[in-house]
Amino acid sequence: MIDPATVQRINDVADIVEVVGDYVHLIRRGANYMGLCPFHNERTPSFSVNKQRNFCYCFSCKKGGSPVNFIMEKEGLNYHEALLHLAKKYGIEVVERELSDEERAKQSERESMFVANEWAMQHMEKNLTETEEGRDIGLTYLTQRGVTDAAIKAFHLGYALDKGYALTEAAGKAGFNINVFKKLGLVGTSQQGRDYDRFRGRVIFPILNTAGKVIAFGGRDLKGGIAKYINSPESELYKKSNELYGIYQAKSAIVSEKKCFLVEGYMDVIGMWQCGMKNVVASSGTALTDGQIAMIHRFTDDITLIYDGDAAGIKASLRGIDMLVSHNLKVKVLLLPDGDDPDSFARKHTPEEFRKYVEEHETDIIRFKAQVMLDTLKNDPQHRIDAINSVVTSIAHIPDNVARDVYVQECSMILNIPEESIAKSVARARAQIVQKMKQDRLRKQQRQSSETQSQSSQIPNLSQNAQLHAHTSESLQQHESDQETVHGENVIGSYQVSGTINETDFRDRQASNLQLQSPLYPLEKAVIKYCVRYSFMKFCSYEDTTSQEQSATPRIVTLDVLSFVEEELRDSNMKFSVSLFSRMFDLLKGMRNGFETYSQHRTAELEERLSQMRKDGYDKISEKALSVDEIRREEQKLEQNITTERETAIKEICKDYPCRILGSHEDDDIRRLALELMMEKHHLSNIYLKDGTTELEEDRLSVLLVRALDEWKNELINQKIRELLKKFHAASRDGNIEKQTEIQAELNSLMNMRKEMSKYIGERIVFK
Ligand code: UTP
Ligand code: MN
Repeated sequence: MIDPATVQRINDVADIVEVVGDYVHLIRRGANYMGLCPFHNERTPSFSVNKQRNFCYCFSCKKGGSPVNFIMEKEGLNYHEALLHLAKKYGIEVVERELSDEERAKQSERESMFVANEWAMQHMEKNLTETEEGRDIGLTYLTQRGVTDAAIKAFHLGYALDKGYALTEAAGKAGFNINVFKKLGLVGTSQQGRDYDRFRGRVIFPILNTAGKVIAFGGRDLKGGIAKYINSPESELYKKSNELYGIYQAKSAIVSEKKCFLVEGYMDVIGMWQCGMKNVVASSGTALTDGQIAMIHRFTDDITLIYDGDAAGIKASLRGIDMLVSHNLKVKVLLLPDGDDPDSFARKHTPEEFRKYVEEHETDIIRFKAQVMLDTLKNDPQHRIDAINSVVTSIAHIPDNVARDVYVQECSMILNIPEESIAKSVARARAQIVQKMKQDRLRKQQRQSSETQSQSSQIPNLSQNAQLHAHTSESLQQHESDQETVHGENVIGSYQVSGTINETDFRDRQASNLQLQSPLYPLEKAVIKYCVRYSFMKFCSYEDTTSQEQSATPRIVTLDVLSFVEEELRDSNMKFSVSLFSRMFDLLKGMRNGFETYSQHRTAELEERLSQMRKDGYDKISEKALSVDEIRREEQKLEQNITTERETAIKEICKDYPCRILGSHEDDDIRRLALELMMEKHHLSNIYLKDGTTELEEDRLSVLLVRALDEWKNELINQKIRELLKKFHAASRDGNIEKQTEIQAELNSLMNMRKEMSKYIGERIVFK
């Protein structure tokens, strides 16, 4: 654990322009920098770097973030590792935080496991070259199979001596606690209670995680034993289904080649690596899991599965197809000539030949499946129907609408079935998949529902709400146009645009705490968006009429965006029902002190700059030969400029701070949400007026924010009404007249409330 002060320091010191500059050629554009996005292939720069806010963003592929995010994405590291990477770059000494006893125990256990694995790996690497047995048996075997010294080194291949207790004894001598080795599966205990080496007389393939730490081992038998490989068991360090063999050695090549090969075995990875195709990983003989696919997806969108061209290979290649396409990956299949695996093929061919073979033979996986189905099941009609349905199901798993359409067209040609009928089946299957996804999410949510407050208990308090009008800073005059559009859409519709969630988002953001299907989601999102974007910016001031001292001049209360929303929510008895938003809101509130310090510091800088500006300005004026009147006018103009400059700069300071903090926040969900809310392409949020001019979101904030709050309240009232209606129907079924009347009264008052509300909303659409 890095202590928070150091984390802060790293985030403060790491300069986005410098960090990105290591990877991207940046060109200055006004206050920002632009360059070619390092995360996708492009010809015109859409990657923008904002020095002031210390983050970067690709307007095209939407990747980016703070320096930490950038390094995570670019180097494939986790948050902690990325911080260490930056600390090293900037020569910051990392102080580990004091841990709680429990944390320390856990941490030290994990650490001692890593240390033990690292030691064991080095020990067995030495066995391979520095012992007679290792050289005679292990090294000879590897050499015979054409494994080069470079590969042995890069993959840290080793040898486990065939002595029974060699490693166990060496570990004891080196002062290790043997229990750690047992947890790691390096040492076993016999029925007689004697400790022994689990890997004996085997070539050792260490398995590294993305950061290059040893998490497990595979050991290949050399004596014709029953188990060709034995592998480390699952442990605190090794969750088999989340790891891929070779990822550490492959990751930078995957990024630069924009593609990942997936093979089955340890030797296949090494064979291809030696053949110059270093962007290769293995699933180690098992079917791919969601976790492994997500890991690949961190580095690329393109994956090619390589299999032996025999029947078993074909079958295997079709196994994980639905899961793969549902991750929005571009999946291809490459079959090798019958009898060859990647390792043997690599040994028989030059790198150029292998590359050419790949180019000529890799096939899109859906097309491949359609062809295989057609070839193998030509005759029997029932089989044919099953086959077509299976292709349809695969297509239906693709999240992207356009891609689905393309495949429908293509498969209709391959299978010789009318396009409409395939399209219909795909649509039906898609609906079922979406339905199932929804149900899964719902179930997941229900499990977590105790965590979130009940939404129905929140009823906005309308009488308080009526004061809203008086609150906003600008006088809310009516403007006759109710036809303003945002990008051709109705203004209210624009909330939906920014709040709409597509299916990919569901998965990507691990719906765990997102109450996504709730109609409240987009409404709450609109409000939290303004909170994140404008948190500490001055929003409105009003006279505090509740003040006790009558005689005194009325106190003027100034609210920033955040405190305005806070007051509104409190007055109306509302809370964010989406727990991520609620956490974000709390975080923002907690940032107030930090902001004060930051803004004092930055304001001091600003004043210095302004006073220099004033000095220069006066100097210039005095240099000119002007009349007294002209001088006065010039001076007024100068002061005016300074005032405007100050106002703009202060607004920027208010907006920068949350960006800097949230954009480098440790919590993935928070960081991602913050980034999304901050970076939503700006023209989307600008308002297009009837006369063709545009107005900045910022200038219309009072209107937009109040409306967002109103819409949210309105929906809460609607929910309550729906609930009461249900109760009303139940009561009328039971013939409970008294209850019915009671509910009716409540309903009436809510309906009135709603009417009032929609009047407000309607009014506010048009004022300016
Ligand atoms: P292979 O049998 O294809 O192994 O199994 P290989 O790596 O190509 O080895 P050689 O060429 O025979 O030397 C593919 C992968 O399945 C896992 C291993 O990860 C292996 O690399 N496997 C296989 C096991 O874990 N245990 C086994 O007994 C067999
Ligand atoms: Mn093999």
